[in-house]
Amino acid sequence: MQIIIFGPPGSGKGTQSVMITEKYGIPGVSTGDLLRRNVKQGTELGRRAKEYMNEGRLVPDRLVIDMFIERVKQSDCGRGYILDGFPRTIRQAEALVEHESEGCVIEVVLDVQVEDEEIVKRLAGRRVCAKCGANYHVDTKPVPPSGKCDINGCLGEIIIRDDDRREVVKKRLKEFREKTAPVRDFYGERGIVHGIEGVGDPKDIFAKITSVLDNLAKSLQYQGNVI
Ligand code: AP5
Repeated sequence: MQIIIFGPPGSGKGTQSVMITEKYGIPGVSTGDLLRRNVKQGTELGRRAKEYMNEGRLVPDRLVIDMFIERVKQSDCGRGYILDGFPRTIRQAEALVEHESEGCVIEVVLDVQVEDEEIVKRLAGRRVCAKCGANYHVDTKPVPPSGKCDINGCLGEIIIRDDDRREVVKKRLKEFREKTAPVRDFYGERGIVHGIEGVGDPKDIFAKITSVLDNLAKSLQYQGNVI
């Protein structure tokens, strides 16, 4: 199944995406992670993307679309995938339609809904592993006493993301409202958007998501636990 997890910055897309990946065995494709990897590796794309990301602006479509299409054409995406952070503009949604014959047919959009006030609070407390990208939070998932990532023996350094500064978060929310929110209507017209209340225990939110996905898998006649 081809799934989009949609929502404002800090709504929990990454958190839920990891759980979906683990339960259903499909890869998660996060454009934010792909871009951050390019920045870290110092590629030409990363060099050009960095200034936009640090200012809380969207990276231009022409830079993001090719990187994304190249990723979803890889063999591990053949059985489906979950997209986190793509499409973020109408142009990006149109690019997916242009590649439908290559497996880019979106079947469901999970629209995670969280108010701005909660988002500002979440992102102020977020910490991330610089090596594997795992998420921590000062209130809900504290950094281990060693200060190093404890996921699968990673031991990466835990840092604060450059774009989690308060003034940058405000800019990211503005970009979301102006450029990304219309993408919800694009898929709404196709009748595939499912609203998910994104406040509460992440496990409870995940239960709502699996209920949507399992019902859909049944109606589309997918087999067993496989979506
Ligand atoms: P990206 O990395 O995609 O960032 P984002 O969409 O702004 O989302 P976040 O990663 O900040 O939040 P999230 O919704 O994944 O929430 P999370 O689970 O981490 O993009 C970064 C930048 O890259 C963009 O600004 C842009 O510049 C560029 N970019 C990326 N894609 C692009 C594209 N397609 N086109 C152009 N530019 C692009 O959770 C947040 C925090 O809350 C965590 O600390 C978590 O532990 C906590 N949390 C999660 N769930 C809960 C809960 N239920 N209750 C309490 N806390 C929770």
